[in-house]
Amino acid sequence: MTIGRTVYLNGNYCPVEDATISPFDRGFLFAHAAYEVTSVYDGRFIDLEGHLSRLRRTLEGISIPNPYSDEKWAEIHSDLVDRNGMEEGTVYLEVTAGDYGLRDFAGPETFTPTVFVYADARPLIGDLARDGIRAITLGDTRWKRRDMKTVQLLSQALAYRAARQEGAETAFMIEDGLVTEAASANAWIVDADGKLITRELSHAILPGITRAGIVSLLKKEGLEVVERAFTPEEAVSAKEVFTTSSGAIVAPVVAIDGKPVGDGRPGQVTRRVQRLYYEAMGADVAAVAPWVLG
Ligand code: PDD
Repeated sequence: MTIGRTVYLNGNYCPVEDATISPFDRGFLFAHAAYEVTSVYDGRFIDLEGHLSRLRRTLEGISIPNPYSDEKWAEIHSDLVDRNGMEEGTVYLEVTAGDYGLRDFAGPETFTPTVFVYADARPLIGDLARDGIRAITLGDTRWKRRDMKTVQLLSQALAYRAARQEGAETAFMIEDGLVTEAASANAWIVDADGKLITRELSHAILPGITRAGIVSLLKKEGLEVVERAFTPEEAVSAKEVFTTSSGAIVAPVVAIDGKPVGDGRPGQVTRRVQRLYYEAMGADVAAVAPWVLG
């Protein structure tokens, strides 16, 4: 990860060290804030419209007015990519309910948001996509409106710390005996018949933009996607498991709670999904991901 030196804060582009916000900001005091993470590949955004539409929904759900039009948001994103000379990585945006110089739970009738945006250069198609990641399972302790992308990320931060302690890279979160999603990605399994399964959309999970892109690519290919919840036991005994997110695109999961998934290596279906998505991103897979060509 390389944070671009120029960031955007409340209408201004400035060096990251000059970007400061008030300790009374409601994002800091109450985690009262929405965020989005959009992938950039070859200087182009992957489904920025999808991210901006989810942002609108989240902001509405947490009573923050959307400060900008989609055109203005797109302009800020492009400016940051250009100013930081970024080719591949992500752009992070956060909109908080703002600063009122006091800690008042309800706050004013109408919020004036704080807006922060930065660019983060990193490979989207890298070693983890090639070799896979390991997951642990743990209880999902998040609030119940996970369909809104807010910065209430303490459960996920602790899940990542627990995973790291156990030598894994991610965590699958379990509620009522079912996998909700991974700590910062949607979860998928491939069953014994080669069928792709991912949890149906509801308040329990984030409607991933990458998930949506993959569902539509797979449908176009004539491949069946079953949208239903699955148990951690199904995941451990699945043929293949992978996660999808803007940060890691398609990440094969090769072990769960120390047990290998399949033969402990990324499987054929996962490779096909990676290939389809990478090609849709405009990647030259023979050059950057020859391992998907099998
Ligand atoms: N996280 N589920 C959760 C809980 C997530 O945090 C994310 C993304 C996803 C995948 O959504 P998308 O495909 O739209 O990125 C699913 C981002 C990348 C993050 O928090 O950094």
